[in-house]
Amino acid sequence: MEKVLLKRLGDFVHRLLAGPNFAKDLQGNKATIIALLGDLGAGKTTFVQALAKELGIADTIQSPTYVLMKSYHIPHHPRFARLIHIDAYRLEGAKEFAALRPERFLEDPHNLVCIEWPERVGGALPVPDMTLQFSSENAGEKERYIDIRTS
Ligand SMILES: Nc1ncnc2c1ncn2[C@@H]1O[C@H](COP(=O)(O)OP(=O)(O)O)[C@@H](O)[C@H]1O
Ligand SMILES: [Mg+2]
Repeated sequence: MEKVLLKRLGDFVHRLLAGPNFAKDLQGNKATIIALLGDLGAGKTTFVQALAKELGIADTIQSPTYVLMKSYHIPHHPRFARLIHIDAYRLEGAKEFAALRPERFLEDPHNLVCIEWPERVGGALPVPDMTLQFSSENAGEKERYIDIRTS
């Protein structure tokens, strides 16, 4: 569990991407999946925004709560070519997730998939490579606790 100040979120993401969890090719020839857990307002979307910035994505990352899924081109990264941001908050389960035809993007090792509310898609998602748990409990207004778990 790490306490991360909002203004230090970029550093946190930088360390995460440079660290051992990303050095190894966890899923072999599959997409890399990061599951983002935590209540509404815990900081999941903000993390994806910081991640996009660190990856050199110029587009504004909006919360995909209404569109469910957004895909962004990652310029010149040694491993990833697309960032896929999913917000499953409004999904009713595995069936609705399947309608997004996830096999299209889960089979591509150049995809980095971030999913908010993964618990809403049931068993339709492969085991994530990394799970980040966000919490604002006992945290100051400008900080969050982030717990990193790898599988
Ligand atoms: N590490 C952080 N420290 C402080 N505030 C944060 C942090 N991450 C996010 N926030 C703030 O929390 C609010 C909600 O964040 P958001 O990322 O939309 O939450 P979620 O996607 O989990 O619902 C935003 O106002 C954002 O600025
Ligand atoms: Mg969100």
